[in-house]
Amino acid sequence: MALRKVFHDGDPVLRKKSRRVEKFDDRLQDLVDDLLETMREENGVGLAAPQVGVLRRIFVMNVHEEGDPAHDMVIINPEFLAQEATQHEVEGCLSLPGLYGYVDRPAQVTIRYQDRTGQTQELTADGLMARCICHESDHLEGILFSDKIVGNLFRYNKDGKAIDVKTGEEVELIQHD
Ligand code: NI
Repeated sequence: MALRKVFHDGDPVLRKKSRRVEKFDDRLQDLVDDLLETMREENGVGLAAPQVGVLRRIFVMNVHEEGDPAHDMVIINPEFLAQEATQHEVEGCLSLPGLYGYVDRPAQVTIRYQDRTGQTQELTADGLMARCICHESDHLEGILFSDKIVGNLFRYNKDGKAIDVKTGEEVELIQHD
């Protein structure tokens, strides 16, 4: 296993469409292990292969609060079967470090995908996992969350306040119970 370099917004590789995975060989297993290790090192909840410069339809995710490896998921060749309702939440991305924004996503999604052994699986997810699936699937199409934000990107300042990167004004965050 090895850490891979995460490419940042501005690199053309992030804007390309990824190709389907056909071979579930040792090389794929190495890539999957590297994606998981890199996601963990960077404290991400998801990481897609194009973010490390590999244009294949693979992403990994772990939405567990402490990132317990037992909750690692490997999603290959995902296809959406259903999308329902809407959620409006803050997103970030390892390819846009320190930047956040609100994105509307389906509240629930159902996907069909292959696991790392090539077995076909189905998954219905809501909340953070649904959002992560949509965000990472967008990476496979060359789309970044910043393309879809409602409002402007913001950063957090040292006091934990959200500051609009364009206007420098404080952003009012939506409070959930
Ligand atoms: Ni991302």
